[in-house]
Amino acid sequence: MSWRLRTADLDDVPSLEELIPLSVRKLQSDYYSTAQMEAAFGPVFGVDRQLIADGTYLVAEADGRVIACGGWSKRKSMFGGDASRAAEDNLLDPATDAARVRAFFIHPDWARRGIGRAILAASEKAIAAAGFARIELVATLAGEPLYKACGYSEIERYEVAMSGGLALPVVRMAKSVNP
Ligand SMILES: CC(C)(COP(=O)(O)OP(=O)(O)OC[C@H]1O[C@@H](n2cnc3c(N)ncnc32)[C@H](O)[C@@H]1OP(=O)(O)O)[C@@H](O)C(=O)NCCC(=O)NCCS
Repeated sequence: MSWRLRTADLDDVPSLEELIPLSVRKLQSDYYSTAQMEAAFGPVFGVDRQLIADGTYLVAEADGRVIACGGWSKRKSMFGGDASRAAEDNLLDPATDAARVRAFFIHPDWARRGIGRAILAASEKAIAAAGFARIELVATLAGEPLYKACGYSEIERYEVAMSGGLALPVVRMAKSVNP
């Protein structure tokens, strides 16, 4: 079945709230424990309405259903849903700051069909058009192979502290725009 990309809108939020846990619980299960994944919902994995409002978030649709999402950001946050954010997410300066790549979640039935790569390519094109020279992201261990395959280099490995004394190992990665 074929799929297509489009800009996300706020009407997609209920579909995204269903999609994200499905994607995480299946596609991250080789990398994280159930407790780690459950603790990450909200503070690390969640819908960021700010990206939708900015017009920088994409969804892939097949047969009228949202089967993947992801995008980029011109704001400071590296990850997390807007519901877990207390303050406003400030704008970055394209002249000095790196744009962010954010929140990729593919439905497990649609994994490894090039949708992640396609959303990333569309995001990178928009980032270049917005005048940024560099991109940074914080990858899950499940996301790392995609970004590596698309030319991102590791900056550092660290752990995001979460509730219940749990931690999520992640990788900060970067790429130059039009290297
Ligand atoms: C990470 C994720 C977004 C990848 O999406 P995807 O649509 O399956 O990725 P693609 O099909 O576009 O893969 C492109 C390339 O990335 C690499 N890649 C992607 N998934 C991989 C995996 N599980 N193992 C090894 N390499 C992988 C491969 O090089 C692949 O090219 P190939 O299929 O021709 O070998 C998806 O697995 C996902 O949603 N994971 C759960 C949520 C998550 O952790 N998101 C990342 C947040 S940073």
